Amino acid sequence: MRVGILTGGGDCPGLNAVIRAVVRRGLQDGDNEFVGFRYGWAGVMDGNTVELTKETTSGILHRGGTILGSSRTNPYKEDGGGAERIRRTLERHGVDALVPIGGEDTLGVARRLWDEEGIPIVGVPKTIDNDLGGTDFTFGFQTAVQIATDAVDRLHTTAESHDRVMILEVMGRHAGWIATYSGMAGGADAILVPERPFDVDEVCASIERRHASGHTFSIVVVSEGAKPVDGVEVADEQQTDAFGHVRLGGIAVQLERDVERRTGFESRMTILGHIQRGGTPIAYDRVLATRFGVAAMDAVSDGAFGQMVGLHGSDIVRVDLEQALREPKLLDPRLYETAEVFFG
Ligand code: F6P
Repeated sequence: MRVGILTGGGDCPGLNAVIRAVVRRGLQDGDNEFVGFRYGWAGVMDGNTVELTKETTSGILHRGGTILGSSRTNPYKEDGGGAERIRRTLERHGVDALVPIGGEDTLGVARRLWDEEGIPIVGVPKTIDNDLGGTDFTFGFQTAVQIATDAVDRLHTTAESHDRVMILEVMGRHAGWIATYSGMAGGADAILVPERPFDVDEVCASIERRHASGHTFSIVVVSEGAKPVDGVEVADEQQTDAFGHVRLGGIAVQLERDVERRTGFESRMTILGHIQRGGTPIAYDRVLATRFGVAAMDAVSDGAFGQMVGLHGSDIVRVDLEQALREPKLLDPRLYETAEVFFG
């Protein structure tokens, strides 16, 4: 078979590990060939390709980013019939099956191409946000959590030196997974997530109680999508991508000002940003990405199209793309309740 591979959406550590695993499993299985499409769906529409072989996918397991490049191109928003252009490219390159590695947007396109065009597709779930249904974890998430946890640790020591309130803004879009995991791991005194709009008076009262009981500093981890009970998320409405997502970011700026004004404690904010997505994947994500890649190639060999590979417990499973994409996977309230034990 000739298998096409693409990486779409925001990049994340572990993409290269998946590419390598699909190719290596396919070569082990028999007479398979691989073609990579550059920059997500854009490369499939434009026929922008690169041959993937054992040699070209060697030495990339530990490398962050993606050797294929990525984009947030939405074929269904392109003039000239994006789906038709994809079909023509796949025919021209003799591609028998496609393995898109992506989040809800990239895999949403994959689902439509399978449903409406019958293009044989097996999806692989990626995102640092961990907000995809059909899988307990996406690869890239644990690496982002580790980077954010390291940041909390570093903020702790400087917060202590200066008796400050440190506010760390992390990514995650509309899901508070990164904030909750890194906040718990780093011992944050408050964690603010999109799933639980916060009352700034309560946040400040909790910090004041903590300082009244002898503590001289506090750490707050806030998710970029968190919003006050009576407000909206902080976003740049001018910067909407082809899938309709606004660019989030900046809630920590508001919080720094509000906390300092209300409590009188000196406050500083840090927005961690794309550092969470860059660099080498941690071992957990390399292993998960490798398992996903091998399982995706196995699904291709079995003709299990319209499916996505996923992690259920410790097992790799196949899930219908339609089912996986029905609802985003928001933060488990029980996890947040455990984190709350340590607030204040
Ligand atoms: O979905 C991954 C993610 O990093 C989100 O956490 C964040 O909101 C968004 O992508 C940032 O996108 P961009 O790289 O386009 O700025």
